[in-house]
Amino acid sequence: MPRRPRSHSRPRQAPDLLELSSGTDTLAAGHPWVFRDAAVRRLGALPLGHELDVHDAKTGRFLGRGLFEPEGTIAVRIFSRQPGEHFDLGFVLKRLDRALELRRTWLNLHDTNAYRLVNAESDGLPGLVIERFADWIVVQPYSDLWSTIPAPLIERLTALGATGVLLRPRQRSQAPCLDLLAGVAPPEQAEVLENGIRYRAFTQDGVKPGLYLDHRETRQRLAGMLAGRRFMNAFSYTAGFTVAAAAGAACESFNVDQSGWCHDVARENLTRNAARGEHHFITADVLEVLERWDSGPLDAVILDPPAFSTSRRGVQTNKRDLARLVTLGLRPVRPGGLLVVASNEGRLGWPELLKHVARGARAAGREAALVSRWSAPVDFPTLAGFPEGDRLKVVVATAGPIGNK
Ligand SMILES: C[S@@+](CC[C@H](N)C(=O)[O-])C[C@H]1O[C@@H](n2cnc3c(N)ncnc32)[C@H](O)[C@@H]1O
Repeated sequence: MPRRPRSHSRPRQAPDLLELSSGTDTLAAGHPWVFRDAAVRRLGALPLGHELDVHDAKTGRFLGRGLFEPEGTIAVRIFSRQPGEHFDLGFVLKRLDRALELRRTWLNLHDTNAYRLVNAESDGLPGLVIERFADWIVVQPYSDLWSTIPAPLIERLTALGATGVLLRPRQRSQAPCLDLLAGVAPPEQAEVLENGIRYRAFTQDGVKPGLYLDHRETRQRLAGMLAGRRFMNAFSYTAGFTVAAAAGAACESFNVDQSGWCHDVARENLTRNAARGEHHFITADVLEVLERWDSGPLDAVILDPPAFSTSRRGVQTNKRDLARLVTLGLRPVRPGGLLVVASNEGRLGWPELLKHVARGARAAGREAALVSRWSAPVDFPTLAGFPEGDRLKVVVATAGPIGNK
C-alpha cells in the first residue's frame, strides 16, 4: 500500500539511505530488487514500505528509490529511478495511467476482453498485478506493500467500466475465494472472450483464473498448428490450448491433468464454442501417462508443467526434472512431430530451458530442432535487465530421429 509522506510514517531515526557494495551493476542495468544481504541487515528494523535512496557505496552513484520489506528474500523494491520521488497515491495512480496507456496503444483487443492491466515491477507498481476478465477486474498483490488496496485505486479501476473489482488473496491459507472490493461479484458462469473464443472466466475453486492470460498468443498460434492433428495437452488445466484449437477445426486431443475439476471446465468450454473433434480427459500424473502410453503416435505433445509440483512420485521441479520430462514427452511423438515446452518461471532462463530440451531429446534418442520461441504478449511487459520478470517461455521444436534411419 502506498506510504504517506515519509515524515508521518517513519520512526525518527530510521535511515533514508542504503549503500550497496555488491549487485550495483545489476541494479543500474534495470533490476528492481535488492536482496537481503549484509548491507540491508545493517539498516536494522525498518517499517514496511519505508522509502530509501539506494546508492553505490563505492562511487556514490544514485541507483533508485526503493521500498523496504522487513520479511522475505527481497529486502527493497525499487519503485523509481527519479531522485526525490515518493511512493504515494499520486504516484500509484500515475503509474496505473501509464500502464493503461501502454495497453490502449499497443494491445490488439480484437474480440478479446481478458488481459493484464498492470504487470507489477515492469509497470512501475512493485508487487502488484491487476487483470481484467470481461467486466471484472482482479487485483492480485504479491507483496505485503499491498496488504491494503487504497480506495482511490479501487475507484479508478471501477471507473474503467468494471461491474466488480475483486481481490485474489496472496496466501492460500486466507479465504479460498476472491474478495469483493467494489461492485458486484461475477456469476459462476461468467465468461471471457479471447480472439473470438469463449472461456469460463473463473474456476469453481474461486481463486484461480479460468485461463492464464499470458498464454493468449500461445493459444492462438498453437490453434493454427493443431488443426486436424492428434495431440496431447499435458498439464492441461482448463485445456485452453485444446479449446482454442478445437473451436477452429476438428482435432483429436488427450488432455492430462491430475486435478479432475479442470477437465469439467475444459468440457464446458468445448461445449460453449461448439468445438469439433474427439477429446479425451485423463485424470492422472503426466509422468505415469507418458511412461505407459500405448494409444498410438501423436502429431504433437505440449508440456506446460508448473514450476513445482507434487504427485505420488514426490516433488518435481522444472529446474531439476525438466529434461527427464522432455525425454518422456517425446515417447508418443511421431518422427517429425512437434514438441512444445512451456515454462513460467523467471528463474529458469532461456539458455537453461533450451539445454533441458536438447538434453531430454538426446536422452530419448531424438533430435529436437527449434522452430519457434514465444514469450508473453504486450500486456505482460518486462523491464529490460529484470530476468525474473521475463517469465513465460515457450519452445516449439520438431522431433526427428537421430541420423537417417
Ligand atoms: C501451469 S498449469 C498448466 C496451464 C495450462 N497448460 C494452460 O494453458 O492453462 C499446471 C497444471 O498442471 C497440473 N499438474 C501439476 N503436476 C501434475 C502432474 N504431475 N500430473 C498431472 N498434472 C499435474 C496442475 O493440476 C495444473 O492444472
